[in-house]
Amino acid sequence: MCGIIGCTGRETETLDVLLHGLDTLEYRGYDSAGVALANGTVEVCKREGEIDRLRAAVDPAMDGPVGIGHTRWSTHGPPTDENAHPHTDCTGDVAVVHNGIIENYDELKAELTAAGHELESDTDTEVVPHFIEDALADGMSRDEAFRSAVARIEGSYALAAVFAGSEAILATREGSPLVVGVGDDAAYLASDVPAFLEYTDRVVYLDDGEFARLESGSWTVTDAEGRLLEKSISQVEWDAEETAKSGYDHYMLKEIHEQPRALRKCLRGRVDELTGTVDVEALEGLTAESVQFVACGTSYHAALYGAQRLQAAGVPAQAFLASEYATAPAPVTEGTLVVGVTQSGETADTLAALRRAQARGVETLAMTNVVGSTAARDCDRTLLIRAGPEIGVAATKTFSSQVVACNLLSATLADRGDSREIVQALRDLPGQIQEVLDASRAEAVAERFVDSDGYFFIGRGHQHPVALEGALKMKEITYKHAEGFPAGELKHGPLALVTGRTPVFAIVTGTDEEATKTVGNVKEVEARDAPVVAVTDGASTVDRYADAVLELPETEPCVAPVLANVQLQLVAYHVANKLGRSIDKPRNLAKSVTVE
Ligand code: AGP
Repeated sequence: MCGIIGCTGRETETLDVLLHGLDTLEYRGYDSAGVALANGTVEVCKREGEIDRLRAAVDPAMDGPVGIGHTRWSTHGPPTDENAHPHTDCTGDVAVVHNGIIENYDELKAELTAAGHELESDTDTEVVPHFIEDALADGMSRDEAFRSAVARIEGSYALAAVFAGSEAILATREGSPLVVGVGDDAAYLASDVPAFLEYTDRVVYLDDGEFARLESGSWTVTDAEGRLLEKSISQVEWDAEETAKSGYDHYMLKEIHEQPRALRKCLRGRVDELTGTVDVEALEGLTAESVQFVACGTSYHAALYGAQRLQAAGVPAQAFLASEYATAPAPVTEGTLVVGVTQSGETADTLAALRRAQARGVETLAMTNVVGSTAARDCDRTLLIRAGPEIGVAATKTFSSQVVACNLLSATLADRGDSREIVQALRDLPGQIQEVLDASRAEAVAERFVDSDGYFFIGRGHQHPVALEGALKMKEITYKHAEGFPAGELKHGPLALVTGRTPVFAIVTGTDEEATKTVGNVKEVEARDAPVVAVTDGASTVDRYADAVLELPETEPCVAPVLANVQLQLVAYHVANKLGRSIDKPRNLAKSVTVE
């Protein structure tokens, strides 16, 4: 949801740093992009479209000791050159980039226009440089002018500004992420660490309401009154290699293949095969009478799975879509734990739901992939899923890591002592995912069904969240219609949509009652001429009714969904690839959705 990069203090290559940072941040938004470099004057170049269009347009000689850049996901005004950031004031001496939404911009714009300012874009952001301009004209220092402009705006924002004749970047945040990178001679600023990870792994996480001043490798953080705050430097564990494509055609494919490694990291030091125990430092002493999960999209599917696991372990649990929970939260008691499942830790809907829970005095836990993210800092506890950076907009490895983390949470809260079988199954999972990756026939299935009218996904119990996730992945990156259903629900309406041109992916593992009933549903589909793709461990009779089979190794029923999901990730990937879609940056979407 818009990406910000900034850099000051480098003698050369400021422009390269900004463009490289924008490439890395492009997953946050990619409908337009721009840069501003300040020297004696401020030079701006911005273009509608992806960053390569900006790269082609920018004068390579454009350089200076300080600059900011932005990649946009439109909220106010269509993607055009004019609406792209940075935005400048009437003098052209102040340039500003913004991630978030300024809610009172209509009235601010009217005020500025009445005072004679000429605003050129449809954006909410453009009011900021003009208020800075007024404050500078009133004799304020640049820092005072920046703070006074920020005091006028309401909403959520991460903002950064550069000025003609200054080597400083001034920045602040309220509800949108912003992190400072501390280099030896240079200082960096970004919405997300990977944007400057190549230059430094030392970071300072800004909190809401804080103001940063970066200049020639030095940095300070103050409050809204300009009082100096003490902030500590953290070391980031990710390395730059993890944010590269490493020979894969797409980040999504790379991240699908990274799942074995991601799960090993998630489990490291947290489970003991010999004793069958789960011991997670972040969850030490945690108890809960009931659990409410709040999450969006793929993370919501992991949350649905988590709620099922806890229910099965005897802990009352429910999963809620965060956007709904934020406006109509479920009743809580003193012993309720609210768990925000969020890869980025920055999803506005999930943060709003967590804040709603906090306002009611219950304990909150962030299950996230990003150290220092807003969810991690706002919640009472943080369970890191340790998946490593995920760049592709479609969440893949983080889903698997969330599912594993849900098992760690459920084993902790159920406090069974000996969880030998599940611990063993979790330890086996990375190797089994590798087996699926090595032998998958997903590409052939994709080839066979690439021209279908739509796709249905069915599963029961633990496989229901995977059916939903399989459909989300398919629609997100192929732009084709796809729906997931609990297998038993198909006959209550959706079956009317099933035809010979709508393959049904049926996820069936084991031989229990769930499997038997799902095989029954598969027969209903087959009787209506729909092609069936069985995603199965071969234990049931489902393959008799299937037109194609995607095989899974046998495992505990509760971890089989991860394996099934890997097959479905691959099918979606290959269908999208055959259709020539923009797999890592699907249209209209952004990786981190920081508006409600
Ligand atoms: C999934 O492929 C999507 N990118 C999206 O549904 C995502 O899972 C959702 O926006 C939640 O993101 P989060 O995990 O960062 O909170």
